[in-house]
Amino acid sequence: MKKTLIVFYSRTGNTKKIAQEVAKLVPGDIEEIIDEKNRNGLLGWLISGMDAFLKKYTSIKQPEKNPSQYDIVIIGTPIWATNISTPIRTYMHNYKDGFKNTAFFCTSAGDRPKDTLKIFKDMEKLCSKNPVALVSFSQKDVKANSFEKIKEFAKKLNR
Ligand SMILES: Cc1cc2nc3c(=O)[nH]c(=O)nc-3n(C[C@H](O)[C@H](O)[C@H](O)COP(=O)(O)O)c2cc1C
Repeated sequence: MKKTLIVFYSRTGNTKKIAQEVAKLVPGDIEEIIDEKNRNGLLGWLISGMDAFLKKYTSIKQPEKNPSQYDIVIIGTPIWATNISTPIRTYMHNYKDGFKNTAFFCTSAGDRPKDTLKIFKDMEKLCSKNPVALVSFSQKDVKANSFEKIKEFAKKLNR
């Protein structure tokens, strides 16, 4: 059995929901990334968009789990301004040297495969690791509890 860590950041709950659904099919530990910057409200939204666009880093709470102790680290992010969310960019930048294998998932407002592909490529570049599996969800999927795609994702991970 592979030792698996599921890491995610979620500002409004969509990515958290997917992380929880992934955990149902891929047994492992979960780590929620907590940003120390206030990203609430309209101002928080604007700041977050700008931070992501400028590929900035932020200050995140010290994670509880050490990713280097896992065979695979599954990382989930919301899309922000067609970029990786700033807290996940920070986590990947800080801990990438410990990743053995990776898989990625993301959530977004729209359902634009081009944007999703770009995010996954950016994540791959950030940690120099080819992901074992990828999956993306629109807000609509999350609201409709449409999680079918996770089965295929989990199959690749549990192989
Ligand atoms: C600052 C900001 C920028 C966003 N930019 C995009 C975007 O470029 N494209 C998109 O499809 N969704 C965008 N979204 C929507 C989020 O990706 C989407 O609502 C996501 O599911 C939120 O995940 P969460 O609930 O886990 O925080 C943006 C949201 C925020 C807060």
